[in-house]
Amino acid sequence: MGSEAKKRVFSGIQPSGDLHIGNYFGAIKGWVEHQSDKENFFCIVDLHSITVAQDPDTLRDQTRSAAALLFASGLDPSICSVFIQSQVSTHAECCWILNCITPLGWLERMTQFKDKAGDQASVSTGLLDYPVLMAADIILYSAHEVPVGDDQRQHVELARDIAQRFNHLYGETFVVPEAVIPEAGARVMGLNDPNAKMSKSFADVRGHAVGMLDEPKEIERSVKRAVTDSHGEIIFSDDAERSGVNNLLGIYKAVTNKTKSEVEKDFRDARGYGDLKTRVAEVLIEELNPIRDRYQELIKDSDQLDKLLARGADRAASISVPKLQEIKSKVGLVLSGGP
Ligand code: TRP
Repeated sequence: MGSEAKKRVFSGIQPSGDLHIGNYFGAIKGWVEHQSDKENFFCIVDLHSITVAQDPDTLRDQTRSAAALLFASGLDPSICSVFIQSQVSTHAECCWILNCITPLGWLERMTQFKDKAGDQASVSTGLLDYPVLMAADIILYSAHEVPVGDDQRQHVELARDIAQRFNHLYGETFVVPEAVIPEAGARVMGLNDPNAKMSKSFADVRGHAVGMLDEPKEIERSVKRAVTDSHGEIIFSDDAERSGVNNLLGIYKAVTNKTKSEVEKDFRDARGYGDLKTRVAEVLIEELNPIRDRYQELIKDSDQLDKLLARGADRAASISVPKLQEIKSKVGLVLSGGP
């Protein structure tokens, strides 16, 4: 298959908060596995992060850390473009133009905005505008596919609406993107509360998440502490009461890429949940050890990391700069150095 025929994929990842195994198994691992079948753009969305208050030094560290983790997880800089959103100025510029064709009512309806704004005394304009920046991210690249969690489905719908509205007003310009949502079974749940998705917001709650950079001892401790039940059977189940065991089996399945029945077979002779937890911790540690090692190397060698990111930003600009020119020209802006 020639590279022209490859589907283009765009996804964004927030640098705020430590990445955990929910991010890894729910998103990153799949990106790595499919990186050669598609043309991929993975963007660390620092401009989205500043829609809520951030400590500047922490944000900078977390942005670099997220980038290093993506490379350490196996994204190959020679086939995918990993870049920092704020280093490619087309995103913010395109966002402005899209703002001017996006009805305010569309943004006020967004459930994530309503949730985040909720009881806050003061909310930034950026928080309201968040989905327009996300639409700019996606449609600047003519992305066909947007892999996101279920919570981002509405934002991708909005990106489609904005793309269609622009096309209608100014003529065919944008590809209308599709959200690609992982099946519910691929979701990692909180170890302390297996009926809620593992989330960065609770990453500090003891025993909730396993961070991608956690040391083996910590991983073991978190898994050992995971909530289970009193049924004692090590099988997959939809029963909410057994969701703890289901989640541990799901993690094991995600690491080993085995089928459900193969996974259950692996535990047929296990002696209780103690054994289950030991095995899950072992496979997780084995999976994460090499990632942590590569991460440590990259984060120490900041020149190398900067070079990889500059390469990603160049590739991103090579697509999004001409696209932005086209957009500017369509809405009637005078391009520099041209008619
Ligand atoms: N809003 C997304 C999230 O929180 C991150 C994001 C920003 C994104 N821009 C994007 C995801 C573009 C996909 C495509 O998860």
